Amino acid sequence: MAFVTHQGIRRLSSSAFRNAAIKHVAIIGGGLMGAGIAQVAATTGHSVVLVDTNEEILKKSTMGIEGSLKRVAKKKFADKQEAGAEFIATVMADVSTSTDAMSAAESTDLVLEAIVENLKIKQGLFGALDKVAPAHTIFASNTSSLPITDIASSTGRLDRFGGLHFFNPVPMMKLVEVIGTSATSQETFDSLLAFSKALGKTPVSCKDTPGFIVNRLLVPYMMEAIRLLERGHGSKEDIDIAMKLGAGYPMGPFELLDYVGLDTVKFIIDGWAEKDPDNPLMQPSEVLKKLVSEGKFGKKTGEGFYKYK
Ligand SMILES: NC(=O)c1ccc[n+]([C@@H]2O[C@H](COP(=O)([O-])OP(=O)(O)OC[C@H]3O[C@@H](n4cnc5c(N)ncnc54)[C@H](O)[C@@H]3O)[C@@H](O)[C@H]2O)c1
Repeated sequence: MAFVTHQGIRRLSSSAFRNAAIKHVAIIGGGLMGAGIAQVAATTGHSVVLVDTNEEILKKSTMGIEGSLKRVAKKKFADKQEAGAEFIATVMADVSTSTDAMSAAESTDLVLEAIVENLKIKQGLFGALDKVAPAHTIFASNTSSLPITDIASSTGRLDRFGGLHFFNPVPMMKLVEVIGTSATSQETFDSLLAFSKALGKTPVSCKDTPGFIVNRLLVPYMMEAIRLLERGHGSKEDIDIAMKLGAGYPMGPFELLDYVGLDTVKFIIDGWAEKDPDNPLMQPSEVLKKLVSEGKFGKKTGEGFYKYK
């Protein structure tokens, strides 16, 4: 050690610090995805602060997490009620809430953003958090369709910025897409991979390209199903049956569209069409536009391609 310079020691210690496992996570956005990620992170021994714009939303988020944990406990500790209650209490003790994103980012290893899918709003949030978060803190977005590079551009930590794309429902879905931009450091990328594994998920490595892997394949597939319907080449019922029984998919494309949300799919395809207008796989659809304009977003509104009671 006598030969190591002061500069060398600094480099070693800062690198060791950055490589340290992610233990504390600030999740910004306590909606469907943020609450799910918070549940999984706390269940796997991470300390979580869940941030949203007001207490009412946060109350709903924590009640949702607790309800979901109760279902897990019922299965896991079938006839051991006390152990189940202890499991829920231990996990919930690791979830705190806040309406102040700035203070939540002041002492955390990872800021994971799951707010509204709007580039300007995400950039504004990260730009502000960048000023208060410690140097070692990694920033990640759960965006489904926006380029991570564009979101990261509002910060001065391009090397410590990546994507962590979870799937709904987060506690059930095993996959996490880990996205590195051309500026993401290997250290950061490795930390995000390790964090995903620590959550009990299976990560895959992705480039910062539209839709990453899953949505790049899934969205054009669902859009092609709508085009088949528009051309009158099959009814939605027959197309769904065909893909379930012929391709072994658990859901047909129209069932899946309704599950994902037609507003979400329209938002993604419109964004892609604007950026790549000549790509036939990324063309918008009149049928989709009409359903969304009528407020028929799928399961969540009670009607999409199908009706739900
Ligand atoms: N829903 C999905 O299936 C899914 C899957 C993967 C990724 N995503 C992505 O995850 C993100 C969140 O999606 P969601 O479905 O959870 O949305 P959601 O609408 O359920 O939740 C978003 C939450 O963010 C909060 N919020 C908005 N602006 C905020 C701010 N400035 N500070 C703190 N909180 C703020 C809202 O109040 C809301 O509670 C989006 O980027 C979406 O594209 C969604």
